[in-house]
Amino acid sequence: MTDQYAVIGNPIGHTKSPLIHGLFAEAMKQDMTYTALVGPLEPVGAFAEVVRAFGVSGGKGMNVTAPFKLEAFAIADERSERASLARAANALKFEDGRIVAENFDGIGLVRDIEVNLGVPLEGQRVLMLGAGGAARGALLPFLAARPAEFVIANRDIAKANALIADAGARGSVRACAYGDLETMGHFELVVNATSASLTGDLPPVPPTVFSPEGTAYELAYGKRLTPFLRLARNAGVRGIADGVGMLVEQAAEAFAWWRGVRPRTRAVIDRLTVPLD
Ligand code: ATR
Repeated sequence: MTDQYAVIGNPIGHTKSPLIHGLFAEAMKQDMTYTALVGPLEPVGAFAEVVRAFGVSGGKGMNVTAPFKLEAFAIADERSERASLARAANALKFEDGRIVAENFDGIGLVRDIEVNLGVPLEGQRVLMLGAGGAARGALLPFLAARPAEFVIANRDIAKANALIADAGARGSVRACAYGDLETMGHFELVVNATSASLTGDLPPVPPTVFSPEGTAYELAYGKRLTPFLRLARNAGVRGIADGVGMLVEQAAEAFAWWRGVRPRTRAVIDRLTVPLD
């Protein structure tokens, strides 16, 4: 029987995952289907039922998107370390009646930066804006890339400190307020992991954090030149990118986890890339 996969979210109409996994399946000659499911927002427990029913009916795996990443993590029987730190899952695997949770968002992001954009992070100064779910998912993969310094700026600094405490002492990482950034010089990589761009807002980041030779990365994708990317461009930053590469890379990680073969990503990224201005 053809293996079944799906992405679940609400809303889900915007999702690119069926296209991405369809292209991967074709390229890797995998006998599988990948559909989009609208997850129920209520009543409580309805989401878990839909996920379990998909597994029981022969589903092999699922991607999970907003607003269900935390709930998907909670209902899993087994969880990876990355998912545990993020307290969120973006990929599930159904295995012998059990649900296994993973989170490939962070590793997809770091792969896009290091491999696709050609920006090695080892020994570099990296600044991440935000300490919410997206930042949680990214933290361990970022630290594994061994930056010289990793700074997390957030309006609510206690939230950034809690995130660091949860990750344990793994490298040079610290939290700060946006105001502190004025005196901290520039960073080779600045990542916007806040949800500000979703509402067209700009985190209160001073332009002094950018280095012209550096890179500014926006996690949101398909939103063209967001206020954050515009600020970076105006500060003279040459390397600006949105999260389309991360989206495709996390999909490739999930595909490899499910199918045991890793698809190439370049052509798919090129196909989905929207010019930034
Ligand atoms: P996500 O899962 O997208 O990360 P989240 O968990 O709700 O969403 O977290 C949102 C993050 O974006 C938080 O770090 C939030 O900052 P606070 O914790 O200080 O609230 C940040 N954020 C949202 N809007 C912002 C804005 N306009 N300026 C700066 N940070 C913002």
